[in-house]
Amino acid sequence: MLSFELLATDPTSHARRGRLRLTHGVVETPIFMPVGTYGTVKGVTPRSLLEMGAQIILGNTFHLWLRPGLEVIRAFGGLHRFEQWPRPILTDSGGFQVWSLGAMRRITEEGVHFASPVNGDRLFLSPEVSIQIQTALDSDIVMQLDECTPYWQGDKTSGHVTTEAEARASMELSLRWARRSKAEFERLGNRNALFGIVQGGMFEHLRQESLEALVELDLPGYAIGGVSVGEPKEDMRRILAHTPHRLPAHKPRYLMGVGTPEDLVEGVACGVDMFDCVMPTRNARNGTYFTRYGDLKIRNARHKADPRPIDPSCTCYACAGISGVSWNDGGRDGFSRAYLHHLDRCGEMLGPMLATIHNLHYYLNLMREIRAALEAGTFAAFRQRFAAERAAGV
Ligand code: GUN
Ligand code: ZN
Repeated sequence: MLSFELLATDPTSHARRGRLRLTHGVVETPIFMPVGTYGTVKGVTPRSLLEMGAQIILGNTFHLWLRPGLEVIRAFGGLHRFEQWPRPILTDSGGFQVWSLGAMRRITEEGVHFASPVNGDRLFLSPEVSIQIQTALDSDIVMQLDECTPYWQGDKTSGHVTTEAEARASMELSLRWARRSKAEFERLGNRNALFGIVQGGMFEHLRQESLEALVELDLPGYAIGGVSVGEPKEDMRRILAHTPHRLPAHKPRYLMGVGTPEDLVEGVACGVDMFDCVMPTRNARNGTYFTRYGDLKIRNARHKADPRPIDPSCTCYACAGISGVSWNDGGRDGFSRAYLHHLDRCGEMLGPMLATIHNLHYYLNLMREIRAALEAGTFAAFRQRFAAERAAGV
């Protein structure tokens, strides 16, 4: 990473407007990063992402390691060319994905042993291996391997809420893995940026210990992990109020795997600069549209003959159609709710494609509005209006 510059701060909260310069380009913060697990943001072309103003997207070490495998991607000089995305990429380390394997894995001090869900091969992911993979991918932002401490140990019926001792052991393991990740990153001469991940479960003092030890490693950026892992919303908000603003002011802060539009606005107020979440893309595939006035489920029969677009104030391709095209009556409109409902009922591919375009546009535009409010010094008013409009209903 070349630099992170703070352009403005909000006097009523911990919110900041910043600019991150990475190997493959500049990222204006606060930013939302669409998720492209397998080297594709599901349902949209990179060209469409560029048109929507996406500045940086995610990839997943774990998935890309299993398929297509490193040798294929190495032949393209990295993930950017392979997936035809010219701007920055952040890759998650695999810690979270391996945790999701459940009974299929065994975590030791050295790393994680698991059976490939693709072909059953016995595999081993260590901090060193994760950094080697992310180096081959040439990710602009490389994440340390960590253990994502869950809220529940075991399943929700027979398990228990993670204890302080369990959260501490897990957090300390992640710290040792942070040091090993950094050593491997330096040994390989990686030209990009390595981020550390704060863990500590739902315990503020463990979060504090984790962040202090990570700050000593002097990494170019820090993430907050282990949130949105099954905890009640008030626990997430409590950790969000505690941790982000305690991280170094002159370095970017990334909240992993979060969240709803409301979570993004509150996260920014707590001092977060970067977010990623599958919500806009995943919910698009089950017919949920995010809008300024709340969420809309296109499957609902009330949309069957509704000629209105999803959101008449939205400028995305789904809502506004092709710029410059108008119909014989002079009207210019995008796809109607009636048409989108029809696509959903028929299981047509275009339905999820248009929903993905709209939802990503909504998330990216929300962040653009946040950045503009921070520049204009009107973030407090924006935050209030946002909450009121979202509660109004579509
Ligand atoms: N994605 C969401 N939460 C986490 C986390 O705690 N660690 C990692 N590596 N990825 C995440
Ligand atoms: Zn739209």
